[in-house]
Amino acid sequence: MIFLIALVLTVCALTSRVDCATAGIDWCYHLPTCNDTHWATIAPKYCGGSRQSPININTTAAKSDVNLKVFTYINFSSTTALKTLENTGKTVKAILGSGVQISGGGLADTYDSLQLHLHWGNGAAVPGSEHTVDGKRYPMEMHIVNVKSSYNGNTTLAVGDSNGLAALGFFIEETSGSATGEPAIWKTLASYLANITTKGQKVTLPSGLSLDDLLVGVNRAKYYRYLGSLTTPACNEAVVWTVFKEPIKVSKDLIELFSKTVHVNDTSSPLMTNTFRGIQPDQPVTTQAVSSASTTCYSLGLMVLSLALWKNL
Ligand SMILES: *[C@@H]1O[C@H](CO)[C@@H](O)[C@H](O)[C@H]1NC(C)=O
Ligand SMILES: *[C@@H]1O[C@H](CO)[C@@H](O)[C@H](O)[C@H]1NC(C)=O
Ligand SMILES: *[C@@H]1O[C@H](CO)[C@@H](O)[C@H](O)[C@H]1NC(C)=O
Ligand SMILES: *[C@@H]1O[C@H](CO)[C@@H](O)[C@H](O)[C@H]1NC(C)=O
Ligand SMILES: *[C@@H]1O[C@H](CO)[C@@H](O)[C@H](O)[C@H]1NC(C)=O
Ligand SMILES: *[C@@H]1O[C@H](CO)[C@@H](O)[C@H](O)[C@H]1NC(C)=O
Ligand SMILES: [Zn+2]
Repeated sequence: MIFLIALVLTVCALTSRVDCATAGIDWCYHLPTCNDTHWATIAPKYCGGSRQSPININTTAAKSDVNLKVFTYINFSSTTALKTLENTGKTVKAILGSGVQISGGGLADTYDSLQLHLHWGNGAAVPGSEHTVDGKRYPMEMHIVNVKSSYNGNTTLAVGDSNGLAALGFFIEETSGSATGEPAIWKTLASYLANITTKGQKVTLPSGLSLDDLLVGVNRAKYYRYLGSLTTPACNEAVVWTVFKEPIKVSKDLIELFSKTVHVNDTSSPLMTNTFRGIQPDQPVTTQAVSSASTTCYSLGLMVLSLALWKNL
């Protein structure tokens, strides 16, 4: 134990230029000394584990599960749900107000929605989603982080439970065509990046932004499910992952604002780019059962056809 602590301190001392104070774990995306190739050394307890995220979702290998029904979203329509937007030095994070919750969706419990944050690449040309689907990486990915309601927001307790957290992952794809500033809600959200260019800066968001609006155009009945981990150290294996199949469509100019506006530290430090962890080994993935509606439709079709044939006889 003493040896382990000494080791962690040594690692910290060696890389002390990168913010060792935060949570005691020194990690980053942008330097070869602390990027994700080192996380299993920096945070060995879980980052080197066997249930790590993100993964590539092999859609052919996904098994169907009839329990993966729709979610119930509580207060996702609230226009005061997003309280603040903060530059953490690692991501851009919005804190959600109390009363925002999810249940259903094959989850055994109700979860409180605590925060959302984003992962991105470098401009629209270098995609930066965390999960990939059959090898495809999307430009960005938004995570809504939810903690089992019975823990009353105590994330320390939640990360000790193999399904203490439920994360919702939404891909962000570039709108086709040359539109700019779309959708309006994303333009509004992205406009606040200019207020939080340096680490630790935080703005209070005015009302008007709801989660439902941010998730515009996504059919939330279609998703992949697997058991994984936090995608940042300490990589605790406590996350029930839901990755939605349909992306949110955001115009290229807005996607590019993320990698061109916020810095990892002060304005003389690098811009935050490629804020995603590399792909981890596969996990079993489930998804909705092939809809029986299409079978019904097909049978009805056959029936109509046979009736028509019979009439013609
Ligand atoms: C981050 O910026 C602050 C303020 O300029 C500075 O004191 C600190 O040394 C910087 N940290 C790193 C890791 O560069
Ligand atoms: C991470 O750091 C290693 C060296 O430690 C380097 O080989 C690799 O290219 C870096 N990865 C990224 C994505 O920068
Ligand atoms: C995806 O899953 C299918 C079916 O299990 C398998 O044949 C294929 O090799 C997998 N592809 C990859 C890239 O893992
Ligand atoms: C939505 O949140 C508010 C507090 O912000 C709370 O009073 C209300 O009960 C919540 N709605 C539901 C359906 O829980
Ligand atoms: C979380 O729960 C643990 C164990 O009961 C307790 O020691 C800790 O103080 C709690 N943390 C917070 C932030 O309430
Ligand atoms: C964000 O910055 C702009 C331009 O400096 C300023 O006018 C605005 O009041 C700021 N917004 C918030 C919420 O701080
Ligand atoms: Zn995330």
